[in-house]
Formats: sequence, structure tokens, C-alpha cells
Amino acid sequence: MQAIGFTVNGGAVSVSADGDTPLLDVLRNRLGLVGTKFGCGAEQCGSCLVLIDGAPAKSCGTALSTVAGKTVVTIEGLGTRERPHPLQQAFLDEQAGQCGYCLSGILIAAKALLGKNPAPSRREIALALDDNICRCGSHPRILRAVERAAAQLRAGAGQ
Ligand code: FES
Ligand code: FES
Repeated sequence: MQAIGFTVNGGAVSVSADGDTPLLDVLRNRLGLVGTKFGCGAEQCGSCLVLIDGAPAKSCGTALSTVAGKTVVTIEGLGTRERPHPLQQAFLDEQAGQCGYCLSGILIAAKALLGKNPAPSRREIALALDDNICRCGSHPRILRAVERAAAQLRAGAGQ
């Protein structure tokens, strides 16, 4: 057991836990950040994606010890109900999702994509989301939502 310090959504945290503890468990059970979802627990579905130092990572397969000193962003760090991130607003506008279980992971993957490619083609969006499973089959609307958000961000929408 050791105290491991890192930053989550802009705030410093220190968690005393075994270094092998999955980051997903720490986020959900110790820090109350339940927006990040447990799907497969085997790095196969993408529902647990977070950004670590800006890169998407499957938190179910990320040991707590590996995020020491790093910056983690979860879906709670993207936007708020009052001030949604343009991606979140675009997903609402396109009604991109049914049960919603996959969406926090998909939004994180999309944020990482748009951070490095502000004008992705539909194929590039699909490839960026290739590791994210949506069992509701909402893919066409999800693709449209990412395109809409990209256009809005290019036009100068916030965040
Ligand atoms: S819960 Fe992590 S990839 Fe499925
Ligand atoms: S909206 Fe239900 S799994 Fe994607």
C-alpha cells in the first residue's frame, strides 16, 4: 500500500492503495467519478477510456502506479450539465446514443482525436473509435455527432 499522487480533472489527488489496483477502480470507488464505466474489464470495449497526459487509455488495464505524477481527465472533466463540451452538446443534438453506457468512453476517444486532428474525415473518426463498442448500434449518429462537434470547434465554439 502506498500513497500515489496524480491530477484528476484539474485537481490534485493522493490515493493510498496497492499500485496494481486498476485506475478504473480508483476513479469509481475511491474518487466517486462514476462516469467512467466498467464494461468488459479486459481492455476490449473502450467504455473505461480516460485521457492520461492527453492520450486515451483504458483505465481497466491501467495500474494506479503508472499514473503517479500524471494528469488524468475523465468524462466529468469534459464539461458540465450547464456548460457542456461541444462534443457533449453535439451528441445531444444528434441524439447519438440509446442506453448511453458506451458514451463516456466514446466522448473521451473523440476528444483525443479532435485534439490532434481538428478536421477528421468520417473514416478517420471511425478508425479512432474502432476500439469502442456500442451495443446499441448508434454508430451512424455517433459519427455524425463527432463531425458536428469538429465543425463547431473549428468555428470557434468553446473549450
Ligand atoms: S472496461 Fe476497460 S476496455 Fe472494457
Ligand atoms: S448507446 Fe448503448 S452501448 Fe452505446
